[in-house]
Amino acid sequence: MMREAHKLILSRMFITLVAYCHLFVSDAIVVLNVNTTAGESTVLPCTLMSTSIDLKDLRFHWQDDRNDVLYSFNKGKEMSEYVTELYRDRVTAFPEDMTRGNISVTVKNLTLEDGKRTIRAFASVLNSAGKWEHSLNICPITLNVAVPYKTVSLEVNEKDMKAVCTVQRGFPEPLVSWRLQHLFNDSKHWSDPRNEHTKAVQDAEDHLYNVSSTIGFNGGQYQNVTCIIYNPTLNVTLSKTYVFNKGKHLWGLPVWASILIAAATVLLVTTVITT
Ligand SMILES: *[C@@H]1O[C@H](CO)[C@@H](O)[C@H](O)[C@H]1NC(C)=O
Ligand SMILES: *[C@@H]1O[C@H](CO)[C@@H](O)[C@H](O)[C@H]1NC(C)=O
Ligand SMILES: *[C@@H]1O[C@H](CO)[C@@H](O)[C@H](O)[C@H]1NC(C)=O
Ligand SMILES: *[C@@H]1O[C@H](CO)[C@@H](O)[C@H](O)[C@H]1NC(C)=O
Ligand SMILES: *[C@@H]1O[C@H](CO)[C@@H](O)[C@H](O)[C@H]1NC(C)=O
Ligand SMILES: *[C@@H]1O[C@H](CO)[C@@H](O)[C@H](O)[C@H]1NC(C)=O
Ligand SMILES: *[C@@H]1O[C@H](CO)[C@@H](O)[C@H](O)[C@H]1NC(C)=O
Repeated sequence: MMREAHKLILSRMFITLVAYCHLFVSDAIVVLNVNTTAGESTVLPCTLMSTSIDLKDLRFHWQDDRNDVLYSFNKGKEMSEYVTELYRDRVTAFPEDMTRGNISVTVKNLTLEDGKRTIRAFASVLNSAGKWEHSLNICPITLNVAVPYKTVSLEVNEKDMKAVCTVQRGFPEPLVSWRLQHLFNDSKHWSDPRNEHTKAVQDAEDHLYNVSSTIGFNGGQYQNVTCIIYNPTLNVTLSKTYVFNKGKHLWGLPVWASILIAAATVLLVTTVITT
């Protein structure tokens, strides 16, 4: 009920704005993108143009694009009753900075639910002429909240010429790529593996992804294979490399073929050295 009343006040404030045209922040506002990690804190920065404000002459609140209220301040008092459950006890302001027009707030213990929402401030300051000046829809910020993938697991079956790479419980869905290093090729020649198949499953409750990617490598002599996992929000890359077994049976080839290859290599090396 209280929240509904608050929204009504806000819409009245908007009508007042249109009527008096008291906006003192330009329309061409760029949405600030903040990429962060679940569980951490982030500051939503916002500074009004008024520089010396008596807190009794200040009203402001922060609200997201679903009309959920993060923080509400009215003439020197925090109005926690207007704050939506989702944000309760997680958002704090800086009263000592407010007098200088700094209405920034800190959001603590970020959750994935906080992500993808655009949050804005709405402020009113009582001017010396006794009129409320409004700054609405200011300081927009979109939060991209991520959960880092921790470990990459890579299993290679040399006999079946298959590699499976998995990561678990991260957000958002990662970009998976592979590198296969040919044994006899120059290290610059990374080949794109064929038959790549990547599958992501998302947990319905906590929204975290488990991803599994499989490749099949046909024939060829390989030195190593690398699975690369990229989290686009955190701009973090994880990778795991498997070095092919250079021992007894070369990459599933029959023993005679391995001996032949080894002999050819020796021959090649000898030729290079003697010429
Ligand atoms: C506003 O206050 C916050 C909290 O003290 C601070 O982190 C931020 O730098 C301030 N912004 C400006 C423009 O002074
Ligand atoms: C942070 O959020 C998680 C999940 O919503 C919750 O389990 C935990 O108690 C919260 N921690 C704090 C310090 O609020
Ligand atoms: C994979 O092979 C390439 C080319 O020989 C080499 O530069 C790289 O260090 C190898 N990586 C690992 C982890 O062995
Ligand atoms: C070198 O790499 C290319 C693909 O990058 C591959 O087609 C070719 O067979 C490789 N050569 C050897 C000797 O492995
Ligand atoms: C993701 O992997 C974890 C750990 O193996 C498992 O507990 C969880 O059920 C998996 N989630 C999904 C959606 O399959
Ligand atoms: C922030 O996250 C978005 C969404 O994943 C991504 O497109 C963007 O590149 C990220 N920005 C930085 C600076 O990493
Ligand atoms: C990601 O990080 C690298 C450095 O590790 C940087 O060069 C690149 O610009 C970053 N990308 C984005 C989108 O911020």
